[in-house]
Amino acid sequence: MSFDYTTSLGAAKFENPIFTASGCASSGKELSQFFDLRELGALVTKSIMIKPRSGRATPRMAETASGMLNSIGLQGPGIDIFLEKDIPWLQEQGVSTVVSIAGESVDDYGILARKMRSVTGVKALEVNISCPNVENRGMVFACNPVTARAAIEAVRRNIGGELPIIAKLSPDVTNIVEIAEEVVAAGADALALINTVLGMVIDTNTMRPKLAGKTGGLSGPAIRPVAVRAIYQVHAALPHVSILGMGGVTNGREALELILAGASAVSIGTANFGNPTATMLVKSELQELLIAKGFNSLQEAVGYAHRAESQ
Ligand SMILES: Cc1cc2nc3c(=O)[nH]c(=O)nc-3n(C[C@H](O)[C@H](O)[C@H](O)COP(=O)(O)O)c2cc1C
Repeated sequence: MSFDYTTSLGAAKFENPIFTASGCASSGKELSQFFDLRELGALVTKSIMIKPRSGRATPRMAETASGMLNSIGLQGPGIDIFLEKDIPWLQEQGVSTVVSIAGESVDDYGILARKMRSVTGVKALEVNISCPNVENRGMVFACNPVTARAAIEAVRRNIGGELPIIAKLSPDVTNIVEIAEEVVAAGADALALINTVLGMVIDTNTMRPKLAGKTGGLSGPAIRPVAVRAIYQVHAALPHVSILGMGGVTNGREALELILAGASAVSIGTANFGNPTATMLVKSELQELLIAKGFNSLQEAVGYAHRAESQ
């Protein structure tokens, strides 16, 4: 019997479970020099906002033990140019695509969703709610159940049709299950866990913060246990809601950890910077591991750590 590597997030179906993580592969052009992007379960684009943005002040990257801290911010061309240039390119190449959007207000999310309505050939919409809400003292949408819900409701109301919504949550909360329940009630079909963890580095020579923005998002292997914990908790509470897992995955064994915790697919972010073919390595290693462990399909392994516990 051949191994079934397909997966789904809500109603969206994918040939395999390995995706890029938003912000770590732009719109795919750079990575396409290294491998055929059609080999990805999906390419997740950098979060796009309404207007063009140049991101935050430099320096905006710092290395940390087993990870990196970035305060790039949501740099990008704005949704109109993105839809005019990047989406047609991805469609011409036949790339399975998930578009990530981000807003600064609830209305922004509604406007972005409306713009996505007429776009065909996109598999799902990832909604990044880990951004500051300018209407509420810069409080991150995803860190408060009321604003998290409002942002996802605005997308649901405006998206029309069947485009599945994947709500991307922040780990910087006391109870991630509470936020997950709110966004699912608001109409999210699936969840992406986790965005970066808020961190800070101080340069002991200058004795000042290393990043111009002072704080930044921590990513890479350092955050993998946080991702595994968040995925495990949310899968336990909402076993029927599919999860796109991410956080520090660099090889097949680490991807398997997220799958066993409850992820139906895995995004690779920071690892692409050191190795542009990291996704392809993870894809083949994970499949080999699943077969070696006796699974006939990826689906059988999703959330297995929960089942094993009760046996
Ligand atoms: C340089 C950089 C830029 C990122 N930009 C975005 C973004 O635009 N939207 C988003 O939802 N997440 C963004 N992220 C978060 C990643 O998608 C991912 O959730 C996180 O880095 C954890 O995965 P990793 O450890 O594999 O990188 C970014 C991460 C990095 C390192």
